[in-house]
Amino acid sequence: MTPVLELRGIDKSFGPVQVLHDVALTVRAGEVTALVGDNGAGKSTLVKCVGGIHPIDSGEYLFEGKPVQVHSPRDAAALGIEIVYQDLALCDNLDIVQNMFLGRENKRGIVLDEDTMEEMAARTLASLSVKTVKSIRQHVSSLSGGQRQTVAIAKAVLWNSKVVILDEPTAALGVAQTAQVLELVRRLADQGLAVVLISHNMNDVFAVSDRIAALYLGRMAAQVKTSDVTHSQVVELITSGRSGDLGLTNGVPA
Ligand SMILES: Nc1ncnc2c1ncn2[C@@H]1O[C@H](COP(=O)(O)OP(=O)(O)OP(=O)(O)O)[C@@H](O)[C@H]1O
Ligand SMILES: [Mg+2]
Repeated sequence: MTPVLELRGIDKSFGPVQVLHDVALTVRAGEVTALVGDNGAGKSTLVKCVGGIHPIDSGEYLFEGKPVQVHSPRDAAALGIEIVYQDLALCDNLDIVQNMFLGRENKRGIVLDEDTMEEMAARTLASLSVKTVKSIRQHVSSLSGGQRQTVAIAKAVLWNSKVVILDEPTAALGVAQTAQVLELVRRLADQGLAVVLISHNMNDVFAVSDRIAALYLGRMAAQVKTSDVTHSQVVELITSGRSGDLGLTNGVPA
């Protein structure tokens, strides 16, 4: 099956500093792909390139097998790629419905009234089996960290998305909330979406991912099936770019 998203030979520099070197990434529908790597390895930069926030310097960007040009978040959204960023996720002073439709009110070329937006928001949350949110007219400031992540993820899937990328969605969460968000991540993939999960937590990675892509100093060290590797192999790939036969030799993946 053709991967939904495929990157080949991606280079990205900020001024004189090259952050991504010849990076390849394959993302498939119905799977959770964990993107791992140490602090500064280039994970967020890579997903910002996918999301059209940073232009790539060179390389191929294929969507459903066809080369595409993604120059803005709007281009990415038009393809069905949604990214939940670590920091700039939601507006505290707006309610759940307002957050989910923020900036998208005109996207479909029709005027969406409050009733329609409320209904769509409620339907999306229900389809994700989100049950802990009391009212969708509640201000986001009154939600727990886990509920906020849930709303951010629901916002991402509201638009017939095909690829949802989550940058460390569980970093600030407790045990129970992390479990809820991971369940939601798994459900998205089981519904047929391609999910990319950035995480530093090996337990989370092994709990939900089908494949693991490990970045090391801006290079893709390896992409493996989760069932083919152990925790310690992945930790080695993250910390040294290599583990046994896997990983980089002179900067080139095995
Ligand atoms: N806008 C920018 N301008 C210049 N350098 C940047 C910029 N964004 C990121 N970098 C650099 O690129 C490198 C990779 O950063 P990035 O944020 O992609 O890492 P990361 O893998 O997401 O790390 P973390 O796990 O800490 O979130 C870092 O050395 C960082 O300083
Ligand atoms: Mg990051």
